[in-house]
Amino acid sequence: MSSQEKIAALLQENRLFPPPPDFAERAHVKDMSLHEWARKDRLGFWAAMAERLHWFKKWDTVLEWEPPFYKWFVGGKLNASYNCIDRHLTSWRRNKAAIIWEGEPGDERVLTYQDLHREVSKAANMLKSLGVRRGDRVTIYLPMIPELPIAMLACARIGAIHSVVFGGFSAESLAGRINDAQAKIVITADGGWRRGNVVPLKQNTDEALKSCPSVEKVIVVKRIGHESLVHHNWVEGRDLWWHTLMRNQPDTCPVEEMDAEDPLYILYTSGSTGKPKGVLHTTGGYLTGVAATTHYVFDLKDEDVYWCTADIGWVTGHSYIVYGPLAEGATTVMYEGTPDYPDRGRFWDIVQKYRVNILYTAPTAIRSFMKWGEEWPARYDLSSLRLIGTVGEPINPEAWIWYHQHIGRGKCPIVDTWWQTETGMIMITPLPGVTHTKPGSATIPFPGVSAEVVDGAGNPVGPGEGGFLVLTEPAPAMLRTVWGDPDRYVAQYYSRFGKSVYFTGDGAKKDENGYFIIVGRVDDVINVSGHRIGTWEVESALVDHPAVAEAAVIGRNHDIKGQAISAFVILKEGHQPSEAMEKELKEHVVRKIGALARPEEILFTADLPKTRSGKIMRRLLRDIAEGRALGDTTTLADPAVVQQLKEKYEATE
Ligand code: WT7
Repeated sequence: MSSQEKIAALLQENRLFPPPPDFAERAHVKDMSLHEWARKDRLGFWAAMAERLHWFKKWDTVLEWEPPFYKWFVGGKLNASYNCIDRHLTSWRRNKAAIIWEGEPGDERVLTYQDLHREVSKAANMLKSLGVRRGDRVTIYLPMIPELPIAMLACARIGAIHSVVFGGFSAESLAGRINDAQAKIVITADGGWRRGNVVPLKQNTDEALKSCPSVEKVIVVKRIGHESLVHHNWVEGRDLWWHTLMRNQPDTCPVEEMDAEDPLYILYTSGSTGKPKGVLHTTGGYLTGVAATTHYVFDLKDEDVYWCTADIGWVTGHSYIVYGPLAEGATTVMYEGTPDYPDRGRFWDIVQKYRVNILYTAPTAIRSFMKWGEEWPARYDLSSLRLIGTVGEPINPEAWIWYHQHIGRGKCPIVDTWWQTETGMIMITPLPGVTHTKPGSATIPFPGVSAEVVDGAGNPVGPGEGGFLVLTEPAPAMLRTVWGDPDRYVAQYYSRFGKSVYFTGDGAKKDENGYFIIVGRVDDVINVSGHRIGTWEVESALVDHPAVAEAAVIGRNHDIKGQAISAFVILKEGHQPSEAMEKELKEHVVRKIGALARPEEILFTADLPKTRSGKIMRRLLRDIAEGRALGDTTTLADPAVVQQLKEKYEATE
């Protein structure tokens, strides 16, 4: 984009983009009737959405509540694996591609619904043969290979609770999650591919298991096949090859009839304080929410090829690669690698090759594509695309316009979808056949969702005024609790504005049309490339290093990543700041948490700005890192500290 085009795009950020007429004509939703219906009869609307699933027994009550604890579809019985697989086998869909998978090296696998049924049944029998029972926890630490959704659906089939841990997390992060969930089984792989290099997942698992007494067996998928990845540390009796175990399993497995409120999975996510929380999602409400949103937000049709580029290690992959699309009987594409391997055209190559119709990706990826240049997508035939979406962080209008022009070729509606690990499903979003979209705005709540922007006292603010984003009514896919810690659930989400108002942790405003503009986190959570990291976690990792006395961590604006991690570190006596020290501390954080938490820069300092009560003023550190004039410093114990820090920061730039 030329700079003139850029300026034009930015000036026009108030433009509204109506749904293209030919798109709207064929869309599932063409008018506001769904929103209106849900506004008049919210529970009736959600009950109708639940009817779209298969239930062994219908519920007695749609919603039972004692805020902030909610139960949806009480008395209902269903199974997520049955809904994602078995129910599609009685129609022509049994021979439809359920999962189209492409590995990073270019290998391919296509699983029809019938194939998926066989593989999931065998995997479920495999888990049973190892003693896994209803309610047991299974930790899954796999790369983006078909065995990952197969393992998840196998757990769901027998009522085991899965806890997927993103393959980029360190051994220590993995151990923390295994222990918190008290998992009996870990499913991993010898390794995963990332830009031609091997991520040593089995080695990380071995390291983690030194401190995980609950784990009885480790199932290892052979993805890479290098003997060296497993041989020196294979633990006889504990470690088992997936392919050996699978070989003689029966290829059918009865499904457990689960209560609507039985747990489906735990997924860990960072909060403002403490270690990551185990967000608990249950069966009936979650599946209802993700199936309905997949259908309406993506306007999904049976003949579509749908591709969500997220990793299944995050909630986006759980809800919109696995559970939503499969519950809808869709064809879902799954890609193992990164967008720049072997070159920067990889995503567009995949779109062209599989004739992808619906693409769902993240703003950070779009900003990378912009930087790499429009000539990359221009080399490919993207004419199959009819709808494109984004998720994970605020999208700047400039990136929105670029996405619209160069990927959507001016023809595809964009769905900018706001939601969270905790909400389980998309909450604020356009419906592509009806909503006039606006760059930088996720527009309005999905039917049956109630959101508001409030001030510190919980009162709605006027148009254009900033405030806190809250959800004022329960929605079926929302978390039920924090695994093993209901007090934390209440404290984190339902205390700031009372026990019936869910606090999202985001700042937002509404425009004159009532459209929501999400500004970003207002708590101590950093959003790096759409991934959540708590400042507390990175600070803990830093002070864990023997040379560090104190550390303060903030998120600062970053052109591509949205936010980057900036660390301010006080070294212990006897240690000198140096480039080598900076490098060592960054590596230390990577070892402790994972590469996604690597600080962008570390500034060594003798002091940190603190209030008189000793609290670190992160707001001032952000002002420094983002080169702003310093905000109010009157509450500081020693105002000189922050001025010195600012000068120092500017000197290192
Ligand atoms: C946080 C949730 C939900 C899937 C991926 C992230 C930010 C998410 C948007 C959006 C502006 C967004 C929020 C939210 N966020 N989507 N469309 N516009 N911000 O899940 O890791 O739980 O993070 O991501 O700050 O609170 P998550």
